[in-house]
Amino acid sequence: MDRLLGNYKKIDFKENINNAGNLIALEQNRNIPFDIKRVYYIFNTKLGVNRGFHAHKNLRQVLVCVSGNLVLRVDDGNSKRDIKLDNPSQGILIEGLVWREMRDISEDCVLLVLADKLYDEKDYIRDYDKFISYCSND
Ligand code: TYD
Repeated sequence: MDRLLGNYKKIDFKENINNAGNLIALEQNRNIPFDIKRVYYIFNTKLGVNRGFHAHKNLRQVLVCVSGNLVLRVDDGNSKRDIKLDNPSQGILIEGLVWREMRDISEDCVLLVLADKLYDEKDYIRDYDKFISYCSND
């Protein structure tokens, strides 16, 4: 399998705002650039606990912080970037080899994740050194 270079991109979602409040729709191959096979959400994270600490060999995901806030660290093996997620109208598309860590997760944080594949533990790289060698291994 070809190893995709790690990549991430911000996506701005259109908000429907009316007197009742706000609404955002996520639609496959419209504002989400893939077929959505799986949706999960991370919530009720205990204060001070960090999550993630893995990469995927072949998975496209969009992360949306629909409530609260967190700091998402994305690391492509060469450079690390910390992105504050606190806006339900913004998504982060992650594809290719990207090590991700979630820190400073607020108690009310709900992180919604859309993925283009079903859950598969074999797709995970959970060891950072293995991730680095996987990135450079042709
Ligand atoms: P994990 O990826 O370790 O999440 P985090 O790093 O945020 O704590 O997943 C936690 C557990 O949930 C683990 O036992 C695998 C399981 N899981 C599923 O069953 N389906 C899924 O789609 C995901 C993402 C995780």
